[in-house]
Amino acid sequence: MSRLSRRAVLAGGAALAARPAFGVALPPVTTSSRIEALLGRMTVTEKAGQLTLMASAIGGRAATALNPPGTGPSAEAQLSAAREGQLTGIFNGEGSAWHRRLQQAAVQSRLGIPLIFAADVIHGFRTIFPVPLGEAASFDPDLARRTARAAAVEASAAGIDWTFAPMVDIARDARWGRAVEGSGEDVLLGRLFAATRVAGFQGRDLAAPDALAACAKHFAAYGAAEAGLDYNSVDVSERTLRQVYFPPFEAAFGAGAPTVMAAFNELSGIPATANHWLLTDVLRGEWNFRGLVVSDYTADEELIAHGYARDGRDAARLAFLAGVDMCMQSGLYRDHLPALVEAGAVPMARLDKAVRRVLVLKAAVGLLDDPFRRLAPGREKRFVGLPAHRALAREAAQRSIVLLKNEGGLLPLRPGQRIALIGPFAAGPHDLIGPWNVYGDDREAIDLATGLGAGVTVAPGSGVETVLPGGIPAAVAAARAADVAVLAIGESQVMSGEAQSRTEITVPAPQLELVRAVAATGKPMVIVLSTGRALALDDTVLAARAIVVGWFLGSESGNAMADVLRGRVAPSGRLPVSFPIESGQVPYHYDHKPTGRPASNGAPVAYKARYRTVPNAARFAFGHGLTYGDITYGPIILDPVLAWDGKIEVSAVITNRGHRAATEVAQLYVRPHSASVTQPVRRLIAFQRLDVPAGGTATAAFTIRRQDLAFVGVDKRAVTEPGAYDIWVAPSAEAGAPATLLLGAPA
Ligand code: GLC
Repeated sequence: MSRLSRRAVLAGGAALAARPAFGVALPPVTTSSRIEALLGRMTVTEKAGQLTLMASAIGGRAATALNPPGTGPSAEAQLSAAREGQLTGIFNGEGSAWHRRLQQAAVQSRLGIPLIFAADVIHGFRTIFPVPLGEAASFDPDLARRTARAAAVEASAAGIDWTFAPMVDIARDARWGRAVEGSGEDVLLGRLFAATRVAGFQGRDLAAPDALAACAKHFAAYGAAEAGLDYNSVDVSERTLRQVYFPPFEAAFGAGAPTVMAAFNELSGIPATANHWLLTDVLRGEWNFRGLVVSDYTADEELIAHGYARDGRDAARLAFLAGVDMCMQSGLYRDHLPALVEAGAVPMARLDKAVRRVLVLKAAVGLLDDPFRRLAPGREKRFVGLPAHRALAREAAQRSIVLLKNEGGLLPLRPGQRIALIGPFAAGPHDLIGPWNVYGDDREAIDLATGLGAGVTVAPGSGVETVLPGGIPAAVAAARAADVAVLAIGESQVMSGEAQSRTEITVPAPQLELVRAVAATGKPMVIVLSTGRALALDDTVLAARAIVVGWFLGSESGNAMADVLRGRVAPSGRLPVSFPIESGQVPYHYDHKPTGRPASNGAPVAYKARYRTVPNAARFAFGHGLTYGDITYGPIILDPVLAWDGKIEVSAVITNRGHRAATEVAQLYVRPHSASVTQPVRRLIAFQRLDVPAGGTATAAFTIRRQDLAFVGVDKRAVTEPGAYDIWVAPSAEAGAPATLLLGAPA
């Protein structure tokens, strides 16, 4: 097992083995006694106030667009709520000056308990990094740690203590808009990126001024929404929860995440926000998570719409007793908990437990010692938008780019080539930083036209989802006058993210018309795709000689894409999600089950698991990505027998016959020939990024122990079974031929 993934496997595996205590370490005795003393002085109304989190009354344009439009409180009302101890914190506020005003009000309250300031710092603060799905394409979890760290330095400088990130939902249905926020369809990637993003946000000491407390979200299985429809019902088996959807949360907690956000969706009939089995039996009882559970935005109030709660008071009771400690935006805890305690419907001890968790979190991030820990004036100027962060944004963007196709070595572009840069994403301060952004600004980002520089003629050609009058003729003329056409097409940033599910995961028709017209000129075409999800690519797009996935790359989008297109940097990204052949295949994921009638990807055979006109396969597989090298994999070399308590080495020599060095991502997949629970056709258990010199070789080497072959068994616990396994060392989930490994039985 490669070093890094083994550590993550242990983090995740620890979740399957003996339970360490997850979440915030218990505070030192002095702090505990201080917390108990505070608790002892609080009225029940003040306690309910400590469980009440609200959106900032003063928020930027982006912040107010992130959630359903509502009539939030005025700034004055929010200041007085802080003064009266009826507010525990705010989120998505606008800058440290406003946060300072609020904190001054809070410390003047009867008990002076400080507010905590949260925000959706998902992929950067002011310097914006690639969307998390794009960053996952780097297959480099440590890169995510670095970008999360930079985001924390900037956000904390603006007075933010707590981020509602990482989003760790596994997403297997590309119709769902929120895959853009996560790490894709694979559990190992999900675990690794969850752990490193938490480590990056939090740094070494949660109380440090540049630390940002993390929040793993959305617990749980939000990405399994039926039909890919956001907020829709989720009905998956407990075994699938434990095999697929829980591990990234366990890895986040294993990395020290002190908070978790309950999901909007119901889970097999019980809304996650009122699901005692999920939020108490599993989270507290099994995992020993000692941190804080926060609801999602008005998710407690939405129990009424779910048809699960009678009214606001009932919703507050159900959510609170299920295990939600803090409610976001609804105000139901402030409004109803005192009466519920008075009526004996909520035990005071249970209320105290929730308040204690809030105070422990505030102590852990240093607020009880210094309420202005992250609010010193001038820190924003010093730390926000540092040149080093822009350089990191460019590096992260370069490594998120995935080269799907490069016929005849069209890329990299040659010096002096006349380029027609065509499409709605060719130029302009839009759709560069991607969805789920609060504080970043497209106007501070670099577009592709700027990145490509001289020798480029720009022609938009079409709108994103609308025809641009005269656009196509102008684009065709530009293509005719050029040596190569680069088409910047795809989704705009509002087409993915929350509440942006799509029924067709395709490039919008007006853009396809544009591609057809440019293709008719016969000029070589490079397609650059902006997208927040896997796409089913039309034949018109597939006919291009080169296709590149650019996701939404953030502040340095245009520079990074130009670096790759012009060959200053070689592409090394790999797909973290499968690109299906047609939309109708979704939810499609590489680690699907074989069924009793598996179809080969060859000629159609009757009565096999495939569609009438489409095989059960991806157009571009999970893990696929080309480089500027000419890469081939040698045969798998392994000790064919693994003793029950032993380990074996598995390796393959990778040769690069090309003229350019390449960074290859070798992937290790397994599949038992038989098992007590059916297993996927392949499961990724490790991967390795390795540099392969031009004309040279490199060896991908992994160590396998039986723990690496574990799966969730019949009794819903981790199990490993002796027997024969297929093993692949391959460049994607649908490439390569397997070798066989025999795991011996225990002595
Ligand atoms: C949203 C999202 C959640 C986010 C919260 C606050 O509805 O589901 O991910 O952190 O509200 O903006």
